[in-house]
Amino acid sequence: MAASFKQNPPTDLLKGRTVSFLFSEPSTRTRSSFEMAAKRLGADTLSFSASGSSLAKGETLLDTFLNLQAVGVTHFVVRHERSGALEDLAPLLKASVINAGDGAHEHPTQALLDLLTLRERWGSFKGKKIVILGDIRHSRVARSNLFALKKLGTKVVFCGPTPLCPDDFKALGAAIERDIEKALKGADAVNVLRLQLERMEQGFVPSLADYALGYQLTPARAELMKPEAVVLHPGPINRGVELASEVADGPRSVILEQVANGVLARMAVLALCEQGRSLA
Ligand code: NCD
Repeated sequence: MAASFKQNPPTDLLKGRTVSFLFSEPSTRTRSSFEMAAKRLGADTLSFSASGSSLAKGETLLDTFLNLQAVGVTHFVVRHERSGALEDLAPLLKASVINAGDGAHEHPTQALLDLLTLRERWGSFKGKKIVILGDIRHSRVARSNLFALKKLGTKVVFCGPTPLCPDDFKALGAAIERDIEKALKGADAVNVLRLQLERMEQGFVPSLADYALGYQLTPARAELMKPEAVVLHPGPINRGVELASEVADGPRSVILEQVANGVLARMAVLALCEQGRSLA
């Protein structure tokens, strides 16, 4: 659906609907692309700041949603710092609830836009190999990517230092390779992740310089992949830490294509929620 929206963007699928954004963690790309997606589909949008609302006075998240629903909100786009924060709430609401990232748990629409970007480059997912590199432990992007890519027949290799890429992740179905050179050899793509310092206690990495030495995607390391292999990053990039600027801005980078595809993927998600509402 997202790919077809590129050729034929619909304009009024969400006319008369109101999409509200509730983000209790920072966001640039996810929030702006959801907002753009809602506007492209003809919806009204209602911004809502958690810190300036009654959530700060102790109102529960559910009460807040019920009140906004009473005001006329039909779709909530929510980013929350707690893993699983939305799972119990969504069934209690008539409005659609879309996960825009919950703690270190999942970030489903990021996975969808990554898939769209990879499909445009790869054609098919079967038999391809992608390396997800960096702070896997704290990354909701890594988990959502793994679940989606495995379903489509892509081999997913997690790579990072042991504290950030523990063996437990094998149980989710990823291969683990701690040697970055070995991991990248012959890969069809690498998805580079930032160190999620805000979710870390002390001691996960000795220093940023040390991390960069061991795990930064440098031009020489990127060349170990297949000649046509691409570099993804969900953003925000910490240049010179997990990713060298020459690679971020180089010919393999599809990072801004990911951002542009984010609008299409999120239009598709809003449209599918709307279809679900109409059937209910
Ligand atoms: C990611 C997130 O918030 O999980 N960013 C994004 O949504 N584009 C990754 C990150 O913050 O590192």
